[in-house]
Amino acid sequence: PECPSGDERERVDCYPEGGASLSRCEARGCCWDQPATQGPPSCFYPTNHGYELSGGLQRTPLGYMASLHRLNTPSAYGNDREIIEVEVEIQQDYRLHLKLSDPKHPGYEVPEAAVKRPLATTLAEHPLFNLTFTSKPFSIKVTRKSTGATIFDSSVGKLTLSAQFLSVSTRLASSNLYGLGEHVHRSYRHDLNWKTWPFFTRDSSPAAGDSANLYGQHPFYMCVEEDGSANGVFVLNSNAMDVTLQPGAPDSAPIVTYRVIGGVLDFYMFLGPSPENVVQQYTEVIGRPMMPAYWGLGFQLSKWFYKNSRGLREVILRTRATGIPYDVQYSDIDYMEDRKDFTYDGNNYGDLPDVIRDLHNNGQKYIVILDPAVSTQKRRDGSPYVPYEMGRSAGVFVNTSDGKTPIVGQVWPSDSVFPDFTNPSGVQWWADNCRDLHNNISFDGLWIDMNEPSNFLNGSLSGCATNTRNHPPYLPDIKGSLLYEGTLCMDAKQMWGDHYDVHSLYGHSMAIATRNAMRSILPSKRGVVLTRSSFAGTGQFASHWLGDNKAAWEDMAWSIPGILEFGLFGIPHVGADICGFGGNTTEELCQRWMQLGAFYPFSRNHNTMDGNPQDPAVFSQAMIDSTRDVMMTRYTLLPYLYTLFYHAHVTGATVVRPLLHEFPADRKTWDVDRQFLWGRGLLISPVLTQGDTQVDAYFPDDRWFDFFTGAEVEGQYRGQTVTLDAPLNKINVHVRGGTILPTQQPANTTVYSRRNPMGLVVALNDSDSAGASGSLFWDDGESYDSIEKSNFLQVTFTASASDGIRCTVDALPVPVPSPPHWALLPYDKVDVLGLDLPDVPTVKAGRPGDLRDVDSGNVQYDRDNKVLRLANLVDMNLWVYSDLQ
Ligand code: GLC
Repeated sequence: PECPSGDERERVDCYPEGGASLSRCEARGCCWDQPATQGPPSCFYPTNHGYELSGGLQRTPLGYMASLHRLNTPSAYGNDREIIEVEVEIQQDYRLHLKLSDPKHPGYEVPEAAVKRPLATTLAEHPLFNLTFTSKPFSIKVTRKSTGATIFDSSVGKLTLSAQFLSVSTRLASSNLYGLGEHVHRSYRHDLNWKTWPFFTRDSSPAAGDSANLYGQHPFYMCVEEDGSANGVFVLNSNAMDVTLQPGAPDSAPIVTYRVIGGVLDFYMFLGPSPENVVQQYTEVIGRPMMPAYWGLGFQLSKWFYKNSRGLREVILRTRATGIPYDVQYSDIDYMEDRKDFTYDGNNYGDLPDVIRDLHNNGQKYIVILDPAVSTQKRRDGSPYVPYEMGRSAGVFVNTSDGKTPIVGQVWPSDSVFPDFTNPSGVQWWADNCRDLHNNISFDGLWIDMNEPSNFLNGSLSGCATNTRNHPPYLPDIKGSLLYEGTLCMDAKQMWGDHYDVHSLYGHSMAIATRNAMRSILPSKRGVVLTRSSFAGTGQFASHWLGDNKAAWEDMAWSIPGILEFGLFGIPHVGADICGFGGNTTEELCQRWMQLGAFYPFSRNHNTMDGNPQDPAVFSQAMIDSTRDVMMTRYTLLPYLYTLFYHAHVTGATVVRPLLHEFPADRKTWDVDRQFLWGRGLLISPVLTQGDTQVDAYFPDDRWFDFFTGAEVEGQYRGQTVTLDAPLNKINVHVRGGTILPTQQPANTTVYSRRNPMGLVVALNDSDSAGASGSLFWDDGESYDSIEKSNFLQVTFTASASDGIRCTVDALPVPVPSPPHWALLPYDKVDVLGLDLPDVPTVKAGRPGDLRDVDSGNVQYDRDNKVLRLANLVDMNLWVYSDLQ
């Protein structure tokens, strides 16, 4: 081997499974040298490992094609691919597609039914990137034309393609790396100091500090370059893999190594150049996030084991009595008879339909859990369990390697089989059974869990056969010592392929099937589908929560990076179990967590079976009061949040947004992950540490106002970290100058808040025009097709300072919609922040050409805080869709 002599931080591990020795290393044809520092491998690839270009580069309509021949060092994993094909497509100015595969032995490809990526037909004319190819060993380098920044550079070498081991190393543009999931990353910005992250969907509790693969598979990252431009790289592959991040030599750049045990190396690269552009370009490929139901943005309450409907009613009643806004109640698996899907327990939950009726009569919604595991046992009364029987005869379950016999594992209901959601008959069977359940208990949404899929056994009741699917030659650095640990055998058969290839698509396919079922049951209602397992693109169908966290301060803190990451992954409707799933919370932790959770896009308090109740009503009056206040704030801001979801759905913009997306050139924002934004205009700075009554908040260089008082932050705060007061009953929220936020008077559920008067928070910026802008999207809050049918209202707001401050609300919809579905809601409350006036001004409001003085009793000017508050603006109305008759 030709061994590299340079910096040891450049070495790529040739013995990633561990246990290297000089002789074993040499047997692989690799280089051996004990590193001087912690991290670098002692067995590493020679420089002449890889492939050589043969026959030159060919131009194709969309880019290039090339054949590569393997150089001498074999992979250690057998069945090396001797000749491989490289395909490069310049699909868009901002998007490059690179595929490495063996045409003779095509690897598994994620089906279009799972990820429907756009097909390019024409060569992009002005790509933002340059391409450089090297022939021996073959490499490809992608650089940003404008700055020369490296986006991808496989000249680090080590390209390996064999039947069950595909690997490539590339260089990053910088050490500002974000994304890759699903794991617990303690910080949003990655630590590149020799970290290996595994990918394979797994039922594993997110434990801080643990590097286990969790519920979802998202091999996508974003990298922020030195000048604040951003790029993204996605490998479209559903096989198990691991990704190693290493620092590289100091005068060079960090290195990322992919090791995948199947499929093809199918890369999409996105050139941004802004971080928001990168997310938009990524979701253009994997699918844009769905538009949630308006009520799905309301506060939600859940617990495993209310025991019976009396317990459930008690929680509902005591929570209502607190006056805390509360839209959704859940039932966990204890509502079922013997944990059997599609049943409910007649003994303990006999009057469940009445409980649901009561929820609905109070403007509330109800969601139940369904697990994929279907019991093979009879019903309690000895009658056949029909869903299982029907499923068996329709052949809808995942089969063992014989392709005929359902594979049996054990989950909540003990012996269970697993629906194959990649089989159209399985999808139909699922919808039919969901409909039957809905006929008995009229749920408004479905919560799908354990869909990694989780199995309490390894593989099956009878274990798994010894073969290369169940025991591949290379086991990525996943949790456990078996690929099928806690799940099904890898040689099990599904319609889309062997479980080996489609395992990580299981939850995704279940989300698609469940969205389909919901749509067939409630054709005009978007409802909610909440999934634990996910893959690239699941955001089109479902919301997500971060799984079984703990009632611990650090778990609360890492929920922020977790939520930011799912924003990158195109699943913006995401939250963590508020107050923690496992263990018992304290009142202080739960109070702080309700404050933070009031700003989760998906806001649900949920806890485990043996955890003490933690619904807010069980705590002191002071805790209840502060929770009510913060939830009222959330509900006040729901029109803004909903509008952000509309933008996410249509353009792929993020909802919860890292500061670095708005201020990419400000290096201080690159590490901020204890604060976050809603869209561009609202900054949330929660307390995340026990006992603290102050919080350090970073304010990027712009104008910022306290959301509650309207006062501008004091002193020289721009581009500084400021210590803010944060007594136990307060979360700091700031509005950015230049923003107009649409608001609405809150109520105890969204049904009622949607009937209330609207408002605006106009936060002026400090440019010459003292302007601000914002928008509102409004529809009936639940129809699938309101956007396609243009049955919505989009309003833009602008404020400018020519001739006094003029705030313009653009647009009545044309034609003007009519009652009963649309109602005229007045703007009751308009606050203008940052307005320095000598005296109380005169204010006019109304339609153009018909401006009338606002009664001085409705005009208040708070000189200390420089806030103008206008109330009861009856002449300024907005047509909004409402249930009001
Ligand atoms: C899993 C879920 C959890 C749920 C429990 C019982 O652990 O992640 O949310 O409460 O199963 O269904």
